[in-house]
Amino acid sequence: MTAATPVQKLVLLSDLHLGQPGARTPDPEACLAAAFGQVAARHADAQAVIVLGDLSDRGGAGDYARLKAMIASSPVPVQLMLGNHDDRPRFRQVFGGAGPVQQTLRTADGTPCYLLDSHDPGRSGGSLAGGRRDWLEAELAAATQPGFVFLHHPPIRTFAPAFDAIGLDDRAGFAACLGRHPGKVRAVVFGHCHMPLAATVAGVPALCLPSLFQQSRPRFDAPVFEDDPQAPPGFGVLMFDRDAFALHRLTLPITAKEPPDALC
Ligand SMILES: [Fe+2]
Repeated sequence: MTAATPVQKLVLLSDLHLGQPGARTPDPEACLAAAFGQVAARHADAQAVIVLGDLSDRGGAGDYARLKAMIASSPVPVQLMLGNHDDRPRFRQVFGGAGPVQQTLRTADGTPCYLLDSHDPGRSGGSLAGGRRDWLEAELAAATQPGFVFLHHPPIRTFAPAFDAIGLDDRAGFAACLGRHPGKVRAVVFGHCHMPLAATVAGVPALCLPSLFQQSRPRFDAPVFEDDPQAPPGFGVLMFDRDAFALHRLTLPITAKEPPDALC
């Protein structure tokens, strides 16, 4: 019988859409504040809060400034990623740095967490062009321990045509990259779809987070987006040790004042 390995915890938020002004959606700032309230109350033992993009609804510098102020008091380090709604230059103005927002985090047990930047300016779809997928390839080649990949755009076919039209551009290339490094990736976690979803890519579990803001429901019969106003805002908690992992979905009791408009 082998000894149990230490349990690791990550809190995963996605699709905040700060600055979305409508009364027909949940208040995104109230959702984010409630999530950090839960982090402080129940998940202060997490090693990081990772936010998988669509931080701002329209890429506004004011949204990033408010986000910076809101996360300043988090008891857990916060790592930010970009989605299609974001604006990289404005994000960089507020948070500093340059270039793609990519990094490898390591949890206390050494597990690598690869945070990718799939933002492609002016488009709803995503891309890892410009060396971003090559960076992942190099990280995986050098890895000595299996880890987790995080990106905003789905690297899988959802079979919901509206979402498949705005997913990651080169899904085959992404799958081939993972396939060249068998056993190096335990799961791929993404956002963008605003609903829980489970699939595989190159045989690796691929899991979609709910939005911390407004949820969608899939339409398989037509290329349209459809909101799910009954579904509450949610976020993920990823628990793992060396042998197993589980991604939990938690929800927040926040609703819109009026029936929501369609968003993507
Ligand atoms: Fe989004």
